[in-house]
Amino acid sequence: MSRTIRIFDTTLRDGEQSPGCSMNIEEKLTVARQLARMKVDIIEAGFPIASDGDFQAVRAIAEEIKGPVICGLARAKEIDIDRAGEAIKPAERGRIHTFIATSDIHLRHKLRISREEVLEQAVKMVKYARRYTDDVEFSAEDAFRSDHDFLCKIVEAVIDAGATTVNIPDTVGYAIPSEFGALIAKIRNEVPNIDKAIISVHCHNDLGLAVSNSLAAIQNGAGQVECTVNGIGERAGNAAMEEIVMALKTRRNLFEAETGIVSEEIMRSSRLLSTITGVMVQPNKAIVGANAFAHESGIHQDGVLKEKSTYEIMTPDSVGLGQVRLVLGKHSGRHAFKARLLELGHELSEEEINRAFARFKHLADQKKDIFDEDIEALVADEVHRLEDTIVLKYLNVESGTSIIPTATIEMEVDGQLTRETGTGDGPVDAALKTIEKVVGSGSRLTSYVVQAITGGTEAQGEVTVRIEDEGRTFIGHGADTDIIVASAKAYINALNKQVYWKRNRTAGVDRPRREPA
Ligand code: KIV
Ligand code: ZN
Repeated sequence: MSRTIRIFDTTLRDGEQSPGCSMNIEEKLTVARQLARMKVDIIEAGFPIASDGDFQAVRAIAEEIKGPVICGLARAKEIDIDRAGEAIKPAERGRIHTFIATSDIHLRHKLRISREEVLEQAVKMVKYARRYTDDVEFSAEDAFRSDHDFLCKIVEAVIDAGATTVNIPDTVGYAIPSEFGALIAKIRNEVPNIDKAIISVHCHNDLGLAVSNSLAAIQNGAGQVECTVNGIGERAGNAAMEEIVMALKTRRNLFEAETGIVSEEIMRSSRLLSTITGVMVQPNKAIVGANAFAHESGIHQDGVLKEKSTYEIMTPDSVGLGQVRLVLGKHSGRHAFKARLLELGHELSEEEINRAFARFKHLADQKKDIFDEDIEALVADEVHRLEDTIVLKYLNVESGTSIIPTATIEMEVDGQLTRETGTGDGPVDAALKTIEKVVGSGSRLTSYVVQAITGGTEAQGEVTVRIEDEGRTFIGHGADTDIIVASAKAYINALNKQVYWKRNRTAGVDRPRREPA
C-alpha cells in the first residue's frame, strides 16, 4: 500500500534566507501561487518575527492562498509565536512551526541552557502555540547532532504537549543516509506516542546529501519532507523539492510512497524562482537543469530515437518540459493574453494586465513568436514592481569599433525628468554608468548576467544584476530584445528596490537581515 508523503515547501522561508534570494511581498505571493498550483501540502511562508516585511508577506499569503496549509516559523518564544499566530490567522488552514535547538553544541554555546530547560521550554511553547491553531509543528534544531535518546524524550514530550508534526532537521547537513534513516527508525520504534504525530525531516545539503537523507528518512517512516524549489536555502541549500518528488514518482514501487505534487508544474516553478531571484540552476542540475533531458552523444540519441526508455528514466513531459511553449503572437488579443497569464498562474489586476499587454504588443512587433518564458519574463519585468521612483524614458547608445561607447539617457527620478550623457568601456558600461551618474545611489554592481530567454537571434535577452549597498543585495531584472535596454532596465529595477528599502526601513516595513536563533 502506497503512503502519501507531505511536501512542506520552505522556499519562502529557509530558501529565502540564502544569500541573494530575498524577495519582496509581490514576488513571494507569485511564488506562493505557483506552489499552490503545484499542490504542495504546506507552504512555510516566512518567519514573521524576523521583520515587518516577513510578517506582511506571511499574512498576505495566508489571506490569498487557498489549498495548502500556510505556516509561519517561530522560535520557542511567546513573542515569536504571537507574531506567527497573528500572521497565519487569515489562512484557511494555518500552522505554527516552533523550534529550539537540542544538540549539546547549541545548548552549551548558543542557548546556554540545560537539556532539562530546553525540554521544559519546548513543551511550554508547543502548548502556547496550540492556543492559535491545532496544527503545531515542533522542530528540534540540529536534531541529528543531538543525543538521540534525549531527542526521543523531547519528541515524546512535545507530542504529549500537542505537537502534530515533529520535525527532525539535519541543520548542518552532517548526516549520511544510513545514519539518518536509522535515526528516523529509532524515533519510530522508541517514541511511544509517535503514532499521534507525523515525522518530518528537514535536511541541509552541506555534504550534497540532503535529498538522499530525506529519501532514507522516507524509507524509515518519515511522512513529511521539508524542501525547496531548486534546493535553495542556507549555505549549500535544502533538499531539492523536484528531486524528491521525481525520485518518489520514478521509483514508486521501491518507496511505496507518493506525493500529491503536480509534477508537470515543476519546470515552471523552477524557472519562476530563477527569474525572480536571479539565481540560475546549473545546466547539469537533476530534473530542472538545461541539460537534464538533453542527449548529446550519438549513441544515446540513436537509442532514444529508437526507444525513449533506453536512456530516459522519466519523460520531459512529466516535469512540464515537453509541452508546447509557443503561445501567442502579434495578432493575439487582450483576452487570449489574459487567459494565458491565468494559465501561467498570474492573477493580475486590470491595470497590471493593461501594462503587461502593452509590453506584450511591443514585444510581438519585435519578435514573431512569444513563448511562455517570454511572458514570464515580461511579467517579472513589468508587473512585480514596487512603486518605481526611477523610470527609464529614453536610451540611446552609440558604440562600435572606432568610437568611445556613449550613452544618452532620459530618466524620471521622483517625477523629475533628467537627461544625461556618459561614456564607458562598452555600451552596457556606458548605460549603467550614466544611470548611476543621475541617481547617485552609491551602490556597487556585484554581478551582471545576461541570458537568452528562448533560442534564436531574435530572442529576448534577460539581464539580472545584483547591486550591494550597506551589506544588502538588491536584484534587478530586465528583459528586452535589445540587451543594452534590458541591462538598463535591470539596473534601474535593482535601484528601485534599493530606494524602496531605504525609504521603508525607517518606516519599519523591512529590516536588513534577520537572525533566526
Ligand atoms: O535547519 C533548520 O534546523 C531549520 C529549522 C528552523 C527547522 O531551518
Ligand atoms: Zn533549515
